Amino acid sequence: MAVRSGAVSVAPILTNLQKDCATPLPVLRHVANAMAADMRTGLAADGGSDLKMILSYVDSLPTGNEKGLFYALDLGGTNFRVLRVQLGGKEERVVATEFEQVSIPQELMFGTSEASFVVFQLFDFIASGLAKFAQKEAGKFHLQPGRTREIGFTFSFPVKQLSIDSGILIKWTKGFAVSGTAGKDVVACLNEAMERLGLEMRVSALVNDTVGTLAGARYWDDDVMIAVILGTGTNACYVERTDAIPKQQGHASSSGRTIINTEWGAFSNGLPLTVYDREMDVASINPGEQIFEKTISGMYLGEIVRRVLLKMAQEGDLFGKSIPVKLSNPFTLRTPDLCAMQQDSSDDLQAVGSILYNVAGVESNPSARRIVVEVCDTIVKRGGRLAGAGIVGILQKMEEDSRGLIFRKRTVVAMDGGLYENYPQYRRYLQDAVTELLGTEISKNVVIEHSKDGSGIGAALLAAANSKYEHDF
Ligand code: GLC
Repeated sequence: MAVRSGAVSVAPILTNLQKDCATPLPVLRHVANAMAADMRTGLAADGGSDLKMILSYVDSLPTGNEKGLFYALDLGGTNFRVLRVQLGGKEERVVATEFEQVSIPQELMFGTSEASFVVFQLFDFIASGLAKFAQKEAGKFHLQPGRTREIGFTFSFPVKQLSIDSGILIKWTKGFAVSGTAGKDVVACLNEAMERLGLEMRVSALVNDTVGTLAGARYWDDDVMIAVILGTGTNACYVERTDAIPKQQGHASSSGRTIINTEWGAFSNGLPLTVYDREMDVASINPGEQIFEKTISGMYLGEIVRRVLLKMAQEGDLFGKSIPVKLSNPFTLRTPDLCAMQQDSSDDLQAVGSILYNVAGVESNPSARRIVVEVCDTIVKRGGRLAGAGIVGILQKMEEDSRGLIFRKRTVVAMDGGLYENYPQYRRYLQDAVTELLGTEISKNVVIEHSKDGSGIGAALLAAANSKYEHDF
């Protein structure tokens, strides 16, 4: 393709970008090996690696026998969701589910006023959403009043778990910055907020979204060993042998296995990064942190592309002489916009033109649009392929420990998150990288499967498994 728009000088910017973002097999291999090595150091000692390798205290996975009515509460992005699940045991499985989604006001996500007040506000807001949802239940399920309902709480941020139903927030990620919450037990915060409202509910299981997804997918398929979220943020968890966790030799698990939350978003070793990534990182609210997440997840791909396009507009006249003002605003371009642009296969890229106009106030000609699509593809390809390399890193670590068992049998990787679900090119690049790294024969045994919204049901199942009450319905 001739790389020309209003000016010739866009070409070197694009060429450099493609060079810096390239992920040939040796780069992927290096990332997979480094991921496996960082997992080992993270399991050896706390603080030993970028990867926190957090113990989930989930030692047994759902069996299918779980019975009763449970709630799940999911906080991990700009929305929180409440879910009610009626589990019917082996025969009936999931009898009924209902859910509601509530968006979180910005001022609660970035609360900076007096710290303890902000924490109260956030958790009171969540508890009152839950209360409204629960009120609708009484009539439908004919439950005895006064019966405590149990909740699986999916909290998708790095938490140092203290037990299955308690954990301390290590730090916020994904643009959240509620002052005063780091170091607090998030379960206690929620339980206290529920008490303030007189709500008879308690948290029986605190889980990361990856852990909920693994549990939810495992309910249907015994071969699920890994779960990966690719959405606003990214993370992965997997089933580990307890004797392979030197830092936690005191932790007994009757099954001999436990789920480890890797928090792989913090991985940073050997990634092909560009000047745009570095500048975005410096401008972020958590500079130097979550570098893998900033390279491959939905919150950031649009912003990286925006930075490249701005540079092309400033230095290469990509959109003519003037620099579109909106394009200078951080996060104007979102990952769903990139995805929509990449689905346009028409000759003159009309849809790309209207998206650029509507989102960034940009007038473009077809050759500029072609460059824009190529920039999107470069960033999305790097993201998808690196995510694939990360998955292979986890498989490699499991394979080394199992002396060949993992690759010889069917192993399922449960995937969820909007980026994975909605971006076909990203999904394809991820799968290609896995196949390239593992080879066609072995990759036939590794099944990468979408487990839609599995984390809600998974959290409810884990609440059931850790229930303190008899459930007879
Ligand atoms: C961020 C969080 C992590 C979560 C992931 C996906 O990386 O730190 O806990 O699992 O986003 O939501």
